[in-house]
Amino acid sequence: MSKPKIVVTRAWPKEVEAELQRHYDVTLNTTDTPMSTAQLQDALRQYDAVCPTVSDKISAEVLGARPLRAKILGNFGVGFNHIDLDAARARGLTVTNTPEVLTDCTADLAMTLLLMAARRAGEGERHVRTRAWTGWRPTHMISTKVTGKTLGLIGMGRIARAAAHRAHHGFGMKIIYFDPFPPPPEAIKDLNATQCGGIEEVLKQADFVSLHCPGGRENYHLINAERLKMMKPEAILINTARGDVVDDQALIAALKQGVIKAAGLDVYEGEPRVNEAYLAMENVVLLPHLGSATRETRIAMGMRVFENLQLFFAGKPVRDKVV
Ligand code: DGY
Repeated sequence: MSKPKIVVTRAWPKEVEAELQRHYDVTLNTTDTPMSTAQLQDALRQYDAVCPTVSDKISAEVLGARPLRAKILGNFGVGFNHIDLDAARARGLTVTNTPEVLTDCTADLAMTLLLMAARRAGEGERHVRTRAWTGWRPTHMISTKVTGKTLGLIGMGRIARAAAHRAHHGFGMKIIYFDPFPPPPEAIKDLNATQCGGIEEVLKQADFVSLHCPGGRENYHLINAERLKMMKPEAILINTARGDVVDDQALIAALKQGVIKAAGLDVYEGEPRVNEAYLAMENVVLLPHLGSATRETRIAMGMRVFENLQLFFAGKPVRDKVV
């Protein structure tokens, strides 16, 4: 029997590419160039499985490709707001993602941003690199203490809980959260966390607010001018979720006017485009969507896609079914 034909839309860790090559008739993206709408449509016409990632826009237009050969979208990434799930469902496609394996590293990065924004680490590094530093002094580059403060989480899924674990056990932080679908008590029993009645309650009480909710329609511009005004003037906003959860214009104004103190961003609406205004501001830390970007995690993510494909082509239920 011939092997299923698989296409991978971007370059993946070489260990995972090698594993895919051992089992499938696989087409790799050796140049790592993003695929166009037409190329993605062709992929759906020519391959049994298409393996996209979070930067590929798998729109209804892409999914309208005919005749359709693909039966599964094995997404490299936990988020799936880049895939039109209704259209995928309508075309009878199975969609899988890669949960769990990126939890620790994404939580680590949320803490990295929190610490960097609080302690002005990006600004400090630029200070040294530009040779502006004139030496230690009691009033130099004064920042915000992290230990013992209150961390407010919007969304309390796996990554939020892992960030809370680090914040609570590592930095003695008090944890508050809001999630419309709260986790079972046993999942947060070691956090001594307080569940709030709504986002507003979290925003009003937290010294640090970290976003961990899905992107897309349901949370579009959830953090807007009105909600930013509810935050404390000394508060710091961290976003490792999705860029479109935050209204950039509102955040830029809030950071400029001192409505909040600082922000740490790993994700952007319309990335890789980053609003020019952020680039000129010292009180925002900007990272290029690095949440899961460790060697170990990216290999594990690829292997999780591989596992889903193996199950699918063996006619078994996939492990990480989204659709
Ligand atoms: C995901 O998997 O959705 C992440 O954003 C990639 O780091």
